[in-house]
Amino acid sequence: MRGPSPIGIVAGSGIELNPLLDRVTQSRDFSEVPGLGETAVDGHVGRIVEGYCADRAIVLQCGRLHFYEGHSYEQVTRSVDLMHGLGVGAVLFTNAAGSLATDMSPGNLMAVSRMSLYPYNCWPQRPDSLELDFELDRCDRRGTYVWVHGPCYETPAEVAALRSLEGDAVGMSTAPEVMRCHELGVRAGAISCITNSCGSPIVLRHEDVVRTARSASLRLCDVVRAWIEEQR
Ligand code: HPA
Repeated sequence: MRGPSPIGIVAGSGIELNPLLDRVTQSRDFSEVPGLGETAVDGHVGRIVEGYCADRAIVLQCGRLHFYEGHSYEQVTRSVDLMHGLGVGAVLFTNAAGSLATDMSPGNLMAVSRMSLYPYNCWPQRPDSLELDFELDRCDRRGTYVWVHGPCYETPAEVAALRSLEGDAVGMSTAPEVMRCHELGVRAGAISCITNSCGSPIVLRHEDVVRTARSASLRLCDVVRAWIEEQR
């Protein structure tokens, strides 16, 4: 008899979830997956690893592709197709995000309850918002993630506009993949690792985002492992 379906986990910018893997059964680079482009962004390894966490089969995607790298919707979401083909029934996405709310600071974890999508021409079928199928406990709070195209971080005027969408955090990923999950009937959840406070006078650099995400990774691993153990 087949066991429960594998769980997909996606590690975003700087986030290292390898400690989740108690055992590895297969590992492939993005370049080995037909239709999946290579990632050009620092902090994104570009590997898909199959294995086990707490005796549950998992597919761990280390890094992802973004629209701002010039990839199409099909390329950005190709890894979701791959996981679906491997029998994955639920995917937990993680990402680095800036906080739009004053009660979150770098290192905090936000369980994404819904996503609000900022308009961009490159994704004509973009919905205005997306609902998530499940939320993880043990995060510091829940909130709305606003998807923006990127790659630039926001100006003060843009931060004000995003706050008016009632966004709690902002980032440049995850929404296309959640959309693809909905299209395929795969359940989707997401956690944002807060790497910076939007509107801070300090100039934000990608390497700062990656460093902060990396330092929050062990806690994120604990939160994800505890959730996987509950999925029996
Ligand atoms: N804005 C957009 N994306 C991000 C940010 C931000 O402030 N921080 C990490 N990813």
